[in-house]
Amino acid sequence: MFDTLSALPADPILGLLNQYRQDSNSNKVDLGVGVYKDPNGHTPILNCVKTAEKFRFENEQTKVYIGPTGSADFNTLITDLCFGASHSAILSNRIRTVSTPGGTGALRVAADFIKRCKKDAVIWVSDPTWANHTGIFEAAGVQVKTYPYYDHANESLKFDEMAQCLSQISSDDVVLLHACCHNPSGMDLTNDQWDIVVELTKEKGFTPLIDMAYQGFGTDVEEDAYGVRRMADFIDNMILCSSCSKNFGLYRDRIGSCSVISKDSNQADIAFSVLLYVVRCIYSMPPAHGAAIVETILGSEELKQQWLDELKVMRDRINGNREILVSTLANSGVERDFSFINVQKGMFSFLGVNKDQVTRLKEEFSIYMVDSSRISIAGISNDNVGYLASSIAKVL
Ligand code: LMR
Repeated sequence: MFDTLSALPADPILGLLNQYRQDSNSNKVDLGVGVYKDPNGHTPILNCVKTAEKFRFENEQTKVYIGPTGSADFNTLITDLCFGASHSAILSNRIRTVSTPGGTGALRVAADFIKRCKKDAVIWVSDPTWANHTGIFEAAGVQVKTYPYYDHANESLKFDEMAQCLSQISSDDVVLLHACCHNPSGMDLTNDQWDIVVELTKEKGFTPLIDMAYQGFGTDVEEDAYGVRRMADFIDNMILCSSCSKNFGLYRDRIGSCSVISKDSNQADIAFSVLLYVVRCIYSMPPAHGAAIVETILGSEELKQQWLDELKVMRDRINGNREILVSTLANSGVERDFSFINVQKGMFSFLGVNKDQVTRLKEEFSIYMVDSSRISIAGISNDNVGYLASSIAKVL
């Protein structure tokens, strides 16, 4: 039976991890996978996570099955974090949340849920979007189409074209939006643009699915959720997928959430029953450890404050990296204006070099980035930025 298979290419993002690890060049620079790194290139465990883990280790009583919803406390606390505890959709009991294996798990649950809502469902994603979005939705049998988003030529947002495209989308379709820190471009909607998108969503009646994988990496946890909260203020049916991989640094513990917002509490109960069915058919129930850590942190005023402080350190470092990259490039004799990198947000930006130049950077200089020239800003440090900028200057 396996004779029918032909080999598939490595994942465009995760495939870089192996290549980087096998490279023996001591100057190598990893700008591939989106993970936070400290100035020494290390991805640390947050102190608040360490404290929460110690508490769980000492107090956990059982490893019995947790059930398809995951931890009820985690679900409540993460919903409050995403929407704001006093949001009207929470107070009117319109939201149902399940814990999921990371943000990817949340997206796959959402994809199967959408397929159950509508057999011939179509989802619109930004052009470009996170490379795995297309795979996840297609694997669930949901057709993927794109709306204009990033203007590579001008390193800016094609907002008018985006709005024009959204205004043609059918009420049967789903539109995927990035809450903040757009992956891969770093180019976010302004609050005014979110207001327009919410208006269009209301007018056209399509269902928004918001992917919030970087809450707290843009401006702060409240501001980064502006679009999510605004959408839930005005829209009856909506889906939110969130991830704790980056903001809690819990990458390998795989914890995220999928929330479905319905027009009223009765419809929410029906949607929830479908959500549980979908979960049971994919992975039965989510891993519990990451959720336990997050609920311990968010449930304690002191640990939550420590987490917000540690998150700010990560955010400030990434923003600082944006500035040192732009200024070091300018000081390395590069004529092209890279100042757009300073206005973008979160973990990523496109460097804006072509595929041959990406290949040269990898093969000649051991600098790793996704073929599209997406760079993970967290991989830059004071130690490597000079080498990085001079290598970029050489390939330009
Ligand atoms: C990324 O975009 O680099 C991260 O979200 C990691 C991943 O799973 O692709």
